[in-house]
Amino acid sequence: MNAITSIEHFIQYIPKAELHLHIEGTLEPELLLKIAERNQVTLNYQSVDAIKKAYQFNDLQDFLDIYYEGANVLRHEIDFFDLTWAYLEKAHSQNIVHTEIFFDPQTHTERGVAFSTVINGIHRALLKGQEELGISSKIIMSILRHLDEISALKTLEEALPFKEWITAIGLDSSEIGNPPSKFARVFEKAKNEGFETVAHAGEEGDADYVREAIEILKVARIDHGNRSLEDETLIKHIVENQIPLTICPLSNLKLKVVKEAVYHPLLEMLNLGMVATVNSDDPAYFGGYINENFLTMTTALNLTSKHIYQLSRNSFVASFLTQGEKDKWLTVIDLFYEQNHGRIQ
Ligand code: ADE
Ligand code: ZN
Repeated sequence: MNAITSIEHFIQYIPKAELHLHIEGTLEPELLLKIAERNQVTLNYQSVDAIKKAYQFNDLQDFLDIYYEGANVLRHEIDFFDLTWAYLEKAHSQNIVHTEIFFDPQTHTERGVAFSTVINGIHRALLKGQEELGISSKIIMSILRHLDEISALKTLEEALPFKEWITAIGLDSSEIGNPPSKFARVFEKAKNEGFETVAHAGEEGDADYVREAIEILKVARIDHGNRSLEDETLIKHIVENQIPLTICPLSNLKLKVVKEAVYHPLLEMLNLGMVATVNSDDPAYFGGYINENFLTMTTALNLTSKHIYQLSRNSFVASFLTQGEKDKWLTVIDLFYEQNHGRIQ
């Protein structure tokens, strides 16, 4: 490692965990075109440029429509393997040492792709990532909230034979009109089966969505959670109970959850004592991976190496690693901060 003399280097080299990453959202235009050709799927776009031009979104639904269209090229185990492996190589290049990735099985099973095809491909790449890149990982199976409870329960049943590979059950897709309470029974069953739980809440939905995710779904952490800041009582609860928030700055900008980077609430969250973390959500669609998310916030909010250090610490504290694994990484990060923060200009 070169001497670390800039905040950019500090961000690059500090070990990080990523906790909010949809594997389908890492499908870069180049790989999308390659897999489409391999599987003889006709696309509305013929070039990388045309695809990139289409990635302009007014809100979450606008993005989801394109995201599900992109995922349609994924048909075989090798497609899910290639997708996951491409992400892991990128993650490795940005010094992500642990990642907890979402996959949306219903996006694929609804199209006739078997659950096992999807998870076998993802899992095989994650094993290779551990062996060859030293990246540890967890899988979070996410339920599509725009679909009904019956579909969610069926998906949970399909997950049971793969229990050893799946750490947590999550909730994503179109938030408004699909509150956490719609999936109370699904999450109760997931808990009874021994899964951890997380949920997207407070991205577009108001603070009530976050409260429901905490009180009814009993989540270990909230994905996004931006709008929890609109409710003082909820903020107090989140801080007192140290419920982590997985924040995705570039996603928030692209989906117009936040108007401009300078108005992003990340620093405010840290100052309130929230366990906020920085993540990339759907990096192929939002213009950057974890380090670009850190850099955008650093520039806009004047973050210091101490903030970056805190965010990196939070990412391990909020992870589903064992306490022993967390302690190992926290020691590494503490040392990294001690040795490097004084040299940054
Ligand atoms: N699925 C993929 N990305 C998502 C996001 N940011 N919000 C909700 N569902 C998603
Ligand atoms: Zn997300």
